[in-house]
Amino acid sequence: MHHALYAPSLGYYSAGSRKFGAEGDFITAPEISPLFSHCIARQCQQVLAAIENGVILEFGAGSGIMAADILQELEQLDSLPKKYLILEISADLQQRQRATLEKQVPHLIDRIEWLQQLPATTLQGVILANEVLDAMPVHRFRLDEQGISEFYVTVEESEFKWQILPTENEELREEVEKLRPNLPIGYISEINLALPAWIQSLPLATGLVLLIDYGFPSSEYYHPQRNEGTLMCHYRHQTHDNPLINVGLQDITTHVNFTTVGKAAIAANLKVAGYTNQANFLLASGLAPTIDPNDTKAYLQQAQQIKTLTLPNEMGELFKVMALTANFDIQLN
Ligand SMILES: C[S@@+](CC[C@H](N)C(=O)[O-])C[C@H]1O[C@@H](n2cnc3c(N)ncnc32)[C@H](O)[C@@H]1O
Repeated sequence: MHHALYAPSLGYYSAGSRKFGAEGDFITAPEISPLFSHCIARQCQQVLAAIENGVILEFGAGSGIMAADILQELEQLDSLPKKYLILEISADLQQRQRATLEKQVPHLIDRIEWLQQLPATTLQGVILANEVLDAMPVHRFRLDEQGISEFYVTVEESEFKWQILPTENEELREEVEKLRPNLPIGYISEINLALPAWIQSLPLATGLVLLIDYGFPSSEYYHPQRNEGTLMCHYRHQTHDNPLINVGLQDITTHVNFTTVGKAAIAANLKVAGYTNQANFLLASGLAPTIDPNDTKAYLQQAQQIKTLTLPNEMGELFKVMALTANFDIQLN
């Protein structure tokens, strides 16, 4: 999964395909409507108002449109961060983000900085990651009578094939054994072993981490009926579950286990300040139409975008928002 998504110049996120939006493979909330990013901006404002010289650090900024819309809204609110930092592992996407931001917010470009690695010192302000955790490589496993098997990938006659063998990964074995009592033999799922370390590495001294992604708590993630896991592939707006085809051309993703996120946060001395679904988060952050109803076409278009972001059968329920804070006790709206 790591190679298929991130191998330099070949992986899905490293190579130059379109990815986001109508002409790409999938669409994310900031691509649907700027209203999504404006809600995030208002949450950022609450933190930036309380912290002098606060900064924003966005992980995995995609096309750069969320950064542009957040900065525009914060400018309106007279609450710009001292710096808007972006940590993006794809060099291709870094270039695309720069092009978007130079076009959308040329007058703010000096505030934006691309980091090649985590900053050496911790920062004060807000850390954002929208649909980043779902793009992290996972291990796929199966519960067997004798132990835990892992899905390895091999090549036969120039095609990728699964090879399911007893795992040699001690950490995987330990973590999956903890799930065994609740699950039947033959149960298949996946686990993101890198997630706790990622949370622990977040460089926040004071402020807020806002993580937005599709997922659920452990009890739903590892529900006995969800017996094939959550791994999905996106190719030209088609969704399927075979990561061994279109390698490097399709997105591969899994849902996020928010219980793991919360536990890792507590272990890293962060406070879980909030956890809700996307609809509740957006409505509490002031999501509302901004277009004059007399402009019927534009108004209906925006109403449709709001529905996509909030309806339970669209993004409203499956997507969750988790707020983690460090040394920050102001009540967030
Ligand atoms: C599904 S896309 C979401 C893009 C964007 N946030 C959006 O909502 O449109 C995942 C993004 O995360 C980036 N990414 C994945 N793992 C990362 C990591 N460990 N650090 C920084 N960026 C990462 C990818 O290159 C890509 O930009």
